[in-house]
Amino acid sequence: MRIAIDALGGDNAPAQVVAGAVSAARKLPRDEILLVGDPSAVEAELGSDAPSNVCLRPAGDAVGMDEEPSEGLRRRHDASVAVAAEMVGEGEAEALFTAGNTGAAVVGALLRIGRLKGCRRPAIATVLPFPSPVLLLDAGATVSCRPQDLLNFAILGAVFAERYFGLDGAARVGLINVGEEPEKGSDLAKKAHALISGSGVRFVGNVEGSDLGCGVADVLVTDGFTGNVVLKTAEGVSREIIRMVRSAMTGGLVSKLAAGVLRPRLGQVRDRVDPENYGGSYLLGVRGPVVIGHGNSRARGVENAILGISRSGLRACTRLRPRALGGGVLSNRPPVGKIVGVGRSLGSRVVTNGDLEGLLDTTDEWISSRTGIKERRFVGEGESCATLAVEASKRALEHAGVGAESIELVICGTSTAPESMPSVACLIGEEIGIPGVGAMDLAAACAGFSYAATVAASMLQSGAAGRVLLVGADAMSTIVDENDRSTAVLFGDGAGAVVLDAGNGKSGFVGHILGADGRGAALGRAGHPGDDHKLYQNGREVFKFAVRILPEVVEKLLSRNDVSPDEVQYVIPHQANARIIKAAAKKLEVPEERVVINLDKFGNTSAASIPLSYPDIYDTFEPGRYVVTVGFGFGLTWAANLYRI
Ligand code: ACO
Repeated sequence: MRIAIDALGGDNAPAQVVAGAVSAARKLPRDEILLVGDPSAVEAELGSDAPSNVCLRPAGDAVGMDEEPSEGLRRRHDASVAVAAEMVGEGEAEALFTAGNTGAAVVGALLRIGRLKGCRRPAIATVLPFPSPVLLLDAGATVSCRPQDLLNFAILGAVFAERYFGLDGAARVGLINVGEEPEKGSDLAKKAHALISGSGVRFVGNVEGSDLGCGVADVLVTDGFTGNVVLKTAEGVSREIIRMVRSAMTGGLVSKLAAGVLRPRLGQVRDRVDPENYGGSYLLGVRGPVVIGHGNSRARGVENAILGISRSGLRACTRLRPRALGGGVLSNRPPVGKIVGVGRSLGSRVVTNGDLEGLLDTTDEWISSRTGIKERRFVGEGESCATLAVEASKRALEHAGVGAESIELVICGTSTAPESMPSVACLIGEEIGIPGVGAMDLAAACAGFSYAATVAASMLQSGAAGRVLLVGADAMSTIVDENDRSTAVLFGDGAGAVVLDAGNGKSGFVGHILGADGRGAALGRAGHPGDDHKLYQNGREVFKFAVRILPEVVEKLLSRNDVSPDEVQYVIPHQANARIIKAAAKKLEVPEERVVINLDKFGNTSAASIPLSYPDIYDTFEPGRYVVTVGFGFGLTWAANLYRI
């Protein structure tokens, strides 16, 4: 391994840095130690008996310890830390050590080695001097963090700690916070908690200040400001305790005798908390291994830091791919799937609550107060889910001002196709005249449109299609038992369509969540239109599920993508029950006027309920803000999409 050493960085450079590097070189005869700095200054310290695996690489002055990092690097392009970083960036060296200005090391590494793709900001990982050693990050590289940054740190820290501490299993990651409960702490802490807990990291939750040294976690994650305070406090307190114990043992004869007995043990404790023995901190989130020593490192600290490079998990961290860094989050991807046209179609029969009063043992008062529905539309003679889907598609194409021949894929979310085969999507393709173009239905009950939108965006993302016709359509009146008052009053028939273009990377879908749990299958089921297996649902249980899942999935989606509720212009929930929607809006702290409701006019139209909303709001879209769509339904299924306008 070739290790570039910033020979001029640090309070005791170059003498102590060179001495430490030479010692390390003797213990690492197969490695190459490249001392980077002003040749005359370095040579003066090297002496004549330096081992042959120590080489010199010329560079200019160091960035001063108190100098503003960016300014220092701007003024000195050939600063020793910058040249050493460049050597790593160019492949001339495989790792960098510096005990110089930390900020200059971070900026130099970012500029000359490069940021790890998928990681927005770097973190300094350092071992806290506690009886149970724990890796802290960030110790000061990124003072102001976003939730996504803390997720990146958690993943990087876990990968590093597993190798560094030689753990048997996955590293336990904790989030530094002011309380143990997930809802405690700052906005950043709450969002980071949600993100990390859904990421696959072995997350032990929040860790309070009093528990940092108790061995509850192998990795502690926080922003660089808090992390630096924690680190300095831990170091300061350790130093003070050792000083107090020492002075207590020089008091009188008894103390001195006790000191004699305890000295070896106390020495061990002192060694354990001595930063010189840890040798350095590790910069994670850049594309090459970077170790940062204490500014006042002496030769032993420098030597230990260099010796620790190969056994650290640093190299593994520099090889992480964006997907692994996001823990399943599509980070750093531009939006894809711009909505360029919208359209809808509804069953021709308007059925009011009053109409149903004459047919069922029900009242307008019950339906309105329990569900929020006033009227719904049922398909009439010659109409079906497919005819509605075709009509909505034609309107969306017309609204987009594009010809049907430009469509490269048709996807229809539906569970009420008039026949099992052909699919509704095929019938749409036939009616709008695009033979040969790919077409498929997607069944996920009321979450069908959100599922289909995820697939459509992924097809655009992959380049499999350049323009997609995305439809949500259901004719629920064809599968409900018209004599069952507990369900017949809830549903309606409709179709909504959107034309999606790949877009220019500014507007489109930025994130998705899909979920399903077949253990809830018995809570709602239905056969095909026309057969005897009519729709059944356990309304109360589905209600409870919906009230829980709707806000949960939206919060997770926003948090994962680092979007605050204030940036959301519209939440479009599946339209099952106004009470479910209002409860979710309250939980999400999104003002009700930004939550779209149309079930009063259309009832629950299953996979159509979300796209039916677009024609009413499309013209009011404000570029740069977000639309969240969230569906839930039988299966059980749920899905949410985050769309940047
Ligand atoms: N008119 C008058 N009374 C009625 C009616 C009606 N239409 N329907 C039910 N009732 C009665 C019941 O018989 C019951 O009477 P009882 O107390 O004498 O037994 C009473 O009203 C209360 O019934 P509940 O079912 O407990 O009513 P609830 O307040 O839960 O509301 C509803 C029922 C509206 C179905 C609600 O549970 C709900 O919205 N559930 C969620 C449905 C949903 O979200 N589905 C999404 C999936 S849809 C899909 O995937 C296709």
